[in-house]
Amino acid sequence: MSQTRSHTCGELRLEHVGQDVQLTGWVNRRRDLGGLTFIDLRDRYGIVQVVLDPQTVPELHAKSQEIRSEFVLFVKGKVSPRPEGMINKERVTGEIEVHASELDILSKAEVLPFTIHEETDATEALKLKYRYLDLRRPHLQRNLLLRHKMYSVIHRYLDQKNFVEIETPFLNKSTPEGARDYLVPSRVHPGKFWALPQSPQLFKQLLMMSGMDRYYQIARCFRDEDLRADRQPEFTQLDMEMSFATPESIFKIMEALFADIFQTVLDVTIQTPFPQMSYEEAMTSHATDKPDLRWDMPLTQLSQVFKNTSFRVFSEALSNHGEIRGVRIPKGESFSRKQIDQLTLIAKGCGAKGVVWMKKSQEKTSSSIDKFLSPDELSTLESLLKLEEGDLGLIVADQPSVARASLEALRNECIERLELKPKRPFAFTWVVDFPLFVWDDDESRFVSVHHPFTQPHPEDVSKLKNGEDLGSVRALAYDLVLNGYEIGGGSIRIHQPEIQSMIFQTLKLTEEDMKHKFGFFLEALKYGTPPHGGIALGLDRVAMILSGTQAIRDVIAFPKTQSALDLMAESPSTVDPRQLDELHLALKKPKA
Ligand code: AMO
Repeated sequence: MSQTRSHTCGELRLEHVGQDVQLTGWVNRRRDLGGLTFIDLRDRYGIVQVVLDPQTVPELHAKSQEIRSEFVLFVKGKVSPRPEGMINKERVTGEIEVHASELDILSKAEVLPFTIHEETDATEALKLKYRYLDLRRPHLQRNLLLRHKMYSVIHRYLDQKNFVEIETPFLNKSTPEGARDYLVPSRVHPGKFWALPQSPQLFKQLLMMSGMDRYYQIARCFRDEDLRADRQPEFTQLDMEMSFATPESIFKIMEALFADIFQTVLDVTIQTPFPQMSYEEAMTSHATDKPDLRWDMPLTQLSQVFKNTSFRVFSEALSNHGEIRGVRIPKGESFSRKQIDQLTLIAKGCGAKGVVWMKKSQEKTSSSIDKFLSPDELSTLESLLKLEEGDLGLIVADQPSVARASLEALRNECIERLELKPKRPFAFTWVVDFPLFVWDDDESRFVSVHHPFTQPHPEDVSKLKNGEDLGSVRALAYDLVLNGYEIGGGSIRIHQPEIQSMIFQTLKLTEEDMKHKFGFFLEALKYGTPPHGGIALGLDRVAMILSGTQAIRDVIAFPKTQSALDLMAESPSTVDPRQLDELHLALKKPKA
């Protein structure tokens, strides 16, 4: 009989007792006890205990001695209930074991560089070098399965909504705006380069011009940018575009998609519609355009109150273009002086010069700066921080980036120390009305906040036409934020060539530049372009949050390191000089 499995390692239960089964899998662990050999046989579906008894099946004895961890086995045997006292409640197969009558070693394994158990002290670098082994660990397998489940919901849901999955090219024209491109030299056209897509932005807009009406693609994107825990040089977007769309119509489709994903993948019901917040409000109340709303602990802007304060620390910070922000720590009133000193050290570690505190108890409100502020200032502070009885307020006056970083660190520390439960495990919010442009000091010009195809807010078009107060022109652009991560971004696009040219002019792209980079696109706009808009979700980030992990690499089968390396294949790598020659490339000598 062939050595195919009749069951997987995760599916046998008491109801299978008495059945003859065939199993295949990896040796998770092997133990010898009282003349018997116990093997935990593992596959993607789970672990089952196999018992080898040389008394009853003597021909298994030699093989049982040979078996080591991670050997691949074929086992034939009978399912039996485990003896009383041997039942393992932690494991779904823990009430049975399989008594082997036949066993074959399908493949041997050398001693692994680290064990496959969940707890391993292997370094991240070692695990990435042997990623295929790391992927044997159940939690990484779970993450990949979860990601697959999310993809299947996306395909089903979008198909029902009339979206068409269309592939767009990987080899593109380089039009850098935003991140750096990954370039691919052309062999047949000496001196010319392709660029890998940073996103399929132009193509999806062209598809709207073609009349496809609703497009989506699970698209791989490439960006040569500085990496962080939630960024990879190649990552995956759910890229979408709709004709005749409004922000509201796009929000509705996305909210129902998320409701479906969370219900199907996690069995969690999420509340829709999602709240919306303007960019300005996000920056004022949270000091970030990706606020984490799981806890009601915003990083409140307090600067306004202290415009005329005589308290030197605050007035100096303000006159040095700094700001004053504070955070409410529920239940923080219980912190001792010493504990507050420890918190101050954390803030100092983020560059802050110090921390001001304010406590509200049943009897009174007191603060570390009672004697420096007027009663009016103190009570405004208390009410802006929304302090309730038992709360602590922590305030930092410093440069905006320092104030924000230190308050974020303080908030996270206090959440941990006080074991503050989130108000909601998944806090979605739309951030809307982003600015259209931001001033770039290096380039001495305005650059697009989102991308140059974003429709200006209709109320701000006149500012754009007159070239006045360009920094305050809003865009019909939105981000979707979940638990403090930007999980998506999109906009309504420009469909009028005049406005598109106006934007390019504002961005100081010359006629020639525009023609060179976007000529084909500007021409396409002229032949009947429907109003349209769309969004792209960062699927790696969504999968990361669904999996409950903090690192994007935990949901990517073969990720790169923070320094954009593949430690397993050891790439990027040098290439044969002949290859360079064919590509008409010569390497510069490295700088001495
Ligand atoms: P944007 O640049 O905002 O928009 O990208 C959309 C989403 O992609 C995710 N993302 C990343 N994820 C992992 N690693 C990265 N390096 C990375 N960079 C971005 C984020 C982000 O919100 N073409 C537009 C979309 C549109 O306008 O429709 C675009 O690409 O979650």
